[in-house]
Amino acid sequence: MPDPIVIALDGPAASGKGTLAQKIAAHYGFAYLDTGSLYRGVAHLLLQAGEDPRDERLAEAAARRFSLEAVEGADIRTREIGAAASLVAAQPGVRKALLDFQREFARRPPKGAPGAVLDGRDIGTVVCPDATVKFFVVASPQIRARRRFLELKAARPDLTQAEVLADLEERDARDAARANAPMAMAADAELLDTTHLTIEAAFAAARRVIDGVFRRCED
Ligand code: CDP
Repeated sequence: MPDPIVIALDGPAASGKGTLAQKIAAHYGFAYLDTGSLYRGVAHLLLQAGEDPRDERLAEAAARRFSLEAVEGADIRTREIGAAASLVAAQPGVRKALLDFQREFARRPPKGAPGAVLDGRDIGTVVCPDATVKFFVVASPQIRARRRFLELKAARPDLTQAEVLADLEERDARDAARANAPMAMAADAELLDTTHLTIEAAFAAARRVIDGVFRRCED
């Protein structure tokens, strides 16, 4: 069996990497893992139990017993869970507990898929440093805040775009500054700035890079 293909997408909050990752996975028939949902899921379990996401012992225990099924159907894309996810994600015990699951997903994608697409903050640097193709997806803070504001506002009509921008900047700063697996662009990653790109244009740009790598692998 050949090694599965792995596509890694990292980047700051709401940069468009999740949408792009899903489109890439659907186009090539690969399995998709939103690794942010693992950190959000752990944060959700803690908040639901009334536990402090800063408590390293409790957070690690929640990460150890975590499974995606445990949070199925829960709305983990909220503002509060995003902030708590970034707190638990800074803790080495939590990251260690979630690492094997992510690596195993990439090594043996579910349903025999020939490849896996993972998006997050440390996929190209820590989780899958040997990924076939790596992207670092960025966009200006204003555009990212706009996109996230539009996603959240139906459920939260009181929310302002300025609040969303402040949330994103706080989370990005924490994610980039943490000692353990900080958000970082891998040296061999392709930088993709989606500030002025539609989803389709970003997808076309990503496909050109991926198809180019596949062609070189075949030669
Ligand atoms: O969708 P969005 O970009 O807002 O965030 P997410 O991908 O759902 O991730 C939520 C939080 O989980 C991030 O702010 C990070 O703190 C953390 N995370 C991480 O540390 N490492 C990953 N591979 C993925 C997410």
